[in-house]
Amino acid sequence: MTVRVVVGGALCHEGRLLAARRSAPPELAGRWELPGGKAEPGESVPEALVRELREELGVETEPLERIPGEWPLGPGLVLHVWSARLLSGEPAPLEDHDELRWLGPDELDSVDWLDQDRPAVAEAGRRLRDG
Ligand code: C5P
Repeated sequence: MTVRVVVGGALCHEGRLLAARRSAPPELAGRWELPGGKAEPGESVPEALVRELREELGVETEPLERIPGEWPLGPGLVLHVWSARLLSGEPAPLEDHDELRWLGPDELDSVDWLDQDRPAVAEAGRRLRDG
């Protein structure tokens, strides 16, 4: 079975990390995630991240580096996370989300993250703290 990568973006700006609240499907709605989505065949993972963040948030971003680790999402899907920086635009919840929040390193526990996103969020928080 081919495994498809879902890429989440740890988008950091001015010392804060962007959290996005899912609006669908019903079993995930209300939980928070690192915004992103599935890489298409023929697309690299960082290319997919740039496209997904453009579609979902209306921003231009630059992927920086992969946060080590790989988190299974169910049959045939695995989550990778890349750090990214904002190049232009103000994120807006255009697709898939109903609220966005910029969280400082001491605020990361204030939202209910999807379980599979938590290790990468913790690592992104450490990186924010360390500058
Ligand atoms: O966003 P989309 O519906 O394409 O995501 C596909 C799957 O990846 C969903 O099951 C979602 O729960 C998961 N996902 C995740 N963490 C993210 C982004 C997506 O677990 N940061």
